[in-house]
Amino acid sequence: MVWATRFSGFFSAAMAVIVLSPSLQSFPPAAAIRSSPSPVYRKSPVVFNNGEECLSSDGGVCNPSLVHVAITLDVEYLRGSIAAVNSILQHSMCPESVFFHFILEETNHRLLESLVRWVFPGLKFNIYDFAPERVRGLISSSVRQALEQPLNYARNYLADLLEPCVNRVIYLDSDLVVVDDVAKLWRTSLVGSRVIGAPEYCHANFTRYFTRGFWSEERFSGAFRGRKPCYFNTGVMVIDLKKWRSGGYTKRIERWMEVQKSQRIYDLGSLPPFLLVFAGHVAPISHRWNQHGLGGDNVRGSCRDLHPGPVSLLHWSGSGKPWLRLDSKRPCPLDALWTPYDLYRHSL
Ligand SMILES: *[C@@H]1O[C@H](CO)[C@@H](O)[C@H](O)[C@H]1NC(C)=O
Repeated sequence: MVWATRFSGFFSAAMAVIVLSPSLQSFPPAAAIRSSPSPVYRKSPVVFNNGEECLSSDGGVCNPSLVHVAITLDVEYLRGSIAAVNSILQHSMCPESVFFHFILEETNHRLLESLVRWVFPGLKFNIYDFAPERVRGLISSSVRQALEQPLNYARNYLADLLEPCVNRVIYLDSDLVVVDDVAKLWRTSLVGSRVIGAPEYCHANFTRYFTRGFWSEERFSGAFRGRKPCYFNTGVMVIDLKKWRSGGYTKRIERWMEVQKSQRIYDLGSLPPFLLVFAGHVAPISHRWNQHGLGGDNVRGSCRDLHPGPVSLLHWSGSGKPWLRLDSKRPCPLDALWTPYDLYRHSL
């Protein structure tokens, strides 16, 4: 049996090279294996050591002193997710106390699990399979194909996926880096006993997130009656999972996705249903925790500058991603702030 295990170990390592390296995906497997048997990512330089002031992080996922972070591992965005995790660990006073919840598609489970273990030895994490079928019937076409990926909708299912003892989670997109101690975001209080917290942008034109048809029909737009809805970005959210579960919010969001299937009420992907359910009921969090839009315009693609004020998190939301622009040798100036966290091995 030993040879079989060895063989399967070698095989999955070889497959990891193929699957995880976008540039190799078109190669036949044998050629890919010959060209590079080495992993595609470097080990993170993070030294896992909690400082003396940190509480014990032992005892598994239910330890109440842990900071819980949920992030998807989408093959297309993997380089971004790895950089995001790396950035969180590098800036944490208590890196051993951060527990990661990785959501991925089952077909990539084994490969990505071994990759994460290899890149981040000692990392505390769980992996959850997200079945695309769960949302496929609910997704309608959007302005950008990336927004239609099933894993983009996984944030709506965290309350079901994560262990019931996890009562709060920070959800993070894959196209961002945290440049401050994530524990500070974790400790933010959700004022007014709100279900979610996020930076709000009340100057943004809220009208444009929904279609004319939406605003002209009272049975839709009436959802905002009595509320002062503001735009917020769903790429950084602090979620009270206990309240989410008891309030049945997953279903509430799904109901709007069902409406969208029969009558187009918005053009973007997973964001508008969140706005419909939560806008106006969001606990505001400091803007420093989501300096968003660095990816540039959804349609034209262009460089953006930072919003004024302090920065704890940089978010390349929008169509451009720093790793793609860097690879194409046409980076935006702020993409240089992403590179220190990149663990992709360029020598391939
Ligand atoms: C907000 O957006 C809508 C729809 O795109 C547009 O008709 C309206 O003029 C905008 N309002 C402001 C104040 O820019």
